[in-house]
Amino acid sequence: MIAAYSATSQARVNAALESLFIAPGPELARLYEAMRYSVMNGGKRVRPLLAYAACEALGGKAEQANGAACAVELIHAYSLVHDDLPAMDDDDLRRGQPTTHKKFDEACAILAGDGLQSLAFSALLDPRLSTADAQTRLQMVSALALAAGPGGMVGGQAIDLGSVGLKLDQQALEYMHRHKTGALIEASVQLGALASGRAEKDQLTSLQAYAQAIGLAFQVQDDILDVESDTETLGKRQGADIARDKPTYPALLGLDAAKAYALELRDQALHALRPFDAAAEPLRDLARYIVDRRS
Ligand code: IPE
Ligand code: IPE
Ligand code: MG
Ligand code: MG
Ligand code: MG
Repeated sequence: MIAAYSATSQARVNAALESLFIAPGPELARLYEAMRYSVMNGGKRVRPLLAYAACEALGGKAEQANGAACAVELIHAYSLVHDDLPAMDDDDLRRGQPTTHKKFDEACAILAGDGLQSLAFSALLDPRLSTADAQTRLQMVSALALAAGPGGMVGGQAIDLGSVGLKLDQQALEYMHRHKTGALIEASVQLGALASGRAEKDQLTSLQAYAQAIGLAFQVQDDILDVESDTETLGKRQGADIARDKPTYPALLGLDAAKAYALELRDQALHALRPFDAAAEPLRDLARYIVDRRS
């Protein structure tokens, strides 16, 4: 089920994303090539899938969430390009290919990331990608800005980089993970729900509880895979967190307790979806997938 849903949704978002990387002239060909390389190089597209699934859970059509799906993937891709830079995690491999600064150069990677961030907001406002009304678009732009910015992902990344070599307690680690990764996953669900044009307040509250749980679970599983997967399966260097003495869940709790915690978060997420009918099945499958995945 999740495999078929993923394939359809990935094809949908990839087609929409592809339309965004047309350079206005030859002088910008390299910048656009670097942006395109950073986005169209595989990736599980979990955030777009969540946006589509949230839209459908509320009775919307997946296509209504195309702008939301592109926007969250563009922010995510930008965050990865910058996360991999030498000044940050200094990684050479991403999605099985050289990182953007390795394929191009550092300045180009910084600008590609900057460009992708702006493109994300343009995507939310692009009439080709969504028919949402002005009020809904404003809500989506506001939610994405909050999630991506210093109160969300960027803040989490700042804490991450400031914590290398330190021993965080579980509360501080959770705070970091909820910001660096959870915030954008929450926004993916929220934007998808808003894109349906039929989100009611109590439904948004339930979806937020779901998204908070899977957002944290996603990064817990990312930390687990850094320990027990391998570089080829991951498409990024296995063991990078340990090598850099990063604060992670397995480092703090041990591998078994980290796995148990990921499962507990999955169950919290499923519990939050109890008010929803069968239309929320893709969201349920995604919660299971996030903790079962091997890459
Ligand atoms: C990796 O994200 C970075 C984190 C926020 C943990 P993904 O595991 O979603 O990476 P891709 O998009 O599939 O490459
Ligand atoms: C990245 O976390 C979170 C982002 C906001 C990009 P990680 O540094 O753990 O992501 P990977 O393991 O490099 O994909
Ligand atoms: Mg990092
Ligand atoms: Mg990293
Ligand atoms: Mg990681």
